[in-house]
Amino acid sequence: MATNGAVNGKQAAHKFNPHFTQAVINATGPKASPRVRQVTTSLIQHLHDFARENEITVDEWMAGLELLNEAGRMSDDKRNEGQLLCDIFGFESLVDEITYKLAADAADEPTATAILGPFWRHDAPQKKMGDTIVSGIESKDRTYMHGIVTDFKTGKPVEGAVLDVWHTAPNGLYEQQDPNQPEMNLRGRFTTGKDGKYDFYCLKPVPYPIPYDGPAGKILQAMDRHPYRPAHIHFILTAPGYKPIVTQIFDRNSKYIEDDSVFAVKDSLIVDFKPYQGDPNADFELPYDFKLATYEDAKKHSVAGTTEESGTAVAARI
Ligand code: BEZ
Ligand code: FE
Repeated sequence: MATNGAVNGKQAAHKFNPHFTQAVINATGPKASPRVRQVTTSLIQHLHDFARENEITVDEWMAGLELLNEAGRMSDDKRNEGQLLCDIFGFESLVDEITYKLAADAADEPTATAILGPFWRHDAPQKKMGDTIVSGIESKDRTYMHGIVTDFKTGKPVEGAVLDVWHTAPNGLYEQQDPNQPEMNLRGRFTTGKDGKYDFYCLKPVPYPIPYDGPAGKILQAMDRHPYRPAHIHFILTAPGYKPIVTQIFDRNSKYIEDDSVFAVKDSLIVDFKPYQGDPNADFELPYDFKLATYEDAKKHSVAGTTEESGTAVAARI
């Protein structure tokens, strides 16, 4: 491996053909859209600088390519290794921040967003308020989660908000990773009525490792990092006229809360599961309210990505 690259980045820039990068950028044709031109120009510049600064050798480049190709071969509708690679480098969290740049930690702001991750599924079962999403699991962590979905600005309840929820079983596996769980276990969609309220039963989640038997795992190991995520529950909230949010809530007492392998924890999304008495179906209670912004209000509180178009992109993705 080359040893002196990053330290001597500036010096390295002068060691190699100083006209090469611009020549590659100049190959872009006149019909490229402004956005394609902007993004590819920047990508080429950063990739070339990265290679020069670190004096990347052919062998190192080939090893990186092999990891990417292996990630492609491993990916299917149950596994997204490319996304995992992005996640361990914090890229999904960064793009999430850029897209939903809201002053999310202030009390009177919409609920903060967090990454989608690779385990969301289309068409989770529609449930009635008060239903459980747990099937066939004995647990002492049965949780009653409830709250209200409001308009962050007016404080009024949001009717017709769909709360799509998913989390892992106590073995740390999502149902599509685990042949022993029923189809669509620990997933559900709940639609609010006029009062904006929701409630359902789930489990207090557990920390779990992201899949580490592929390229992402190899990189974590090479970087001397662990693969664990703190205990969390995922949500997507959509409502007519409101900007959709993709988010997660995190158990304050969970291991790895300070050290998420995919860098998704935000202070405002940390919650307390409270021991619960008086409900034969629950061991813990989790009150949590969600605050949504209309497209118009989201635009005012944002520097990027809160147009109706970007909301539509989220809705299309989800
Ligand atoms: C998840 O929370 O489901 C997840 C996020 C990023 C990578 C792997 C899993
Ligand atoms: Fe998760």
